[in-house]
Amino acid sequence: MSTFLAQPRVLWSLVRGVSRHGSLAQRLNRFYGPQAEQYDETRLRLLHGRRLIGELVDLRRGDVVVELGAGTGATLDILGAQASRCREILLVDICEPLLAVARRRAREHGNVRVVEADATTFDPGLEVDVVVMSYTLTMIPDWFLAIDNAARMLRPGGQVVVTDFHVSRAEPMCGLRRQGFLARHFWPMWFGHDGVRPNPDHLPYLMARFDTTVLMDRAGGVPGLPWVRVPYYVYMGRKRG
Ligand SMILES: C[S@@+](CC[C@H](N)C(=O)[O-])C[C@H]1O[C@@H](n2cnc3c(N)ncnc32)[C@H](O)[C@@H]1O
Repeated sequence: MSTFLAQPRVLWSLVRGVSRHGSLAQRLNRFYGPQAEQYDETRLRLLHGRRLIGELVDLRRGDVVVELGAGTGATLDILGAQASRCREILLVDICEPLLAVARRRAREHGNVRVVEADATTFDPGLEVDVVVMSYTLTMIPDWFLAIDNAARMLRPGGQVVVTDFHVSRAEPMCGLRRQGFLARHFWPMWFGHDGVRPNPDHLPYLMARFDTTVLMDRAGGVPGLPWVRVPYYVYMGRKRG
């Protein structure tokens, strides 16, 4: 298992950051292109919420699942045997180098389709049982449109499953924990260079749009920086109606 520090190409991409020029897809292609093959091993010990998704989600036989911002399709490994129960799993992303890895992974599954599309506008053309967004909202400038789109494609009672880096509001909604000044300002600055923008409005907006079933507010380690812990959330909710 490798950290960013042992992967010069990955480290260089992170130091260079996401460029400000071109469309979102062009910027992401440039950022992830040099590190696509190392993406999985370097994110394993950073994206802690993904593991929890595997433990919390209970997919039923015949479910249609959409992952918005699926990247390399690593969620397939996290879902494990559950993935084979589904009628169809659609892995949607806008970044071609990561999708190339996802396509390779999808070959091992007869029920997985990889789609190059924008999470804010993608229309699966059928009713969906579960929408997953794993560390995706922080990378989408108009993240609220991705949540709206998830709600649009879900059947009534369908589930949204979201995990991402978390910063709290200075005055959080009822039930949400308040983070200190340093955490609220440090993480958006730290991640912002790489196009990742933790946003205190993710959870309030999800809670306003869905009936909440699971809400976890945790912190996990950062590879190579043993004294640092980065906050993340896991949210699950059902579409009303
Ligand atoms: C940090 S990665 C997470 C990938 C994967 N879900 C995981 O857990 O490893 C964020 C992903 O969001 C994708 N993304 C960003 N904006 C997007 C958009 N508007 N539409 C689709 N995908 C997008 C990126 O290309 C990238 O694959």
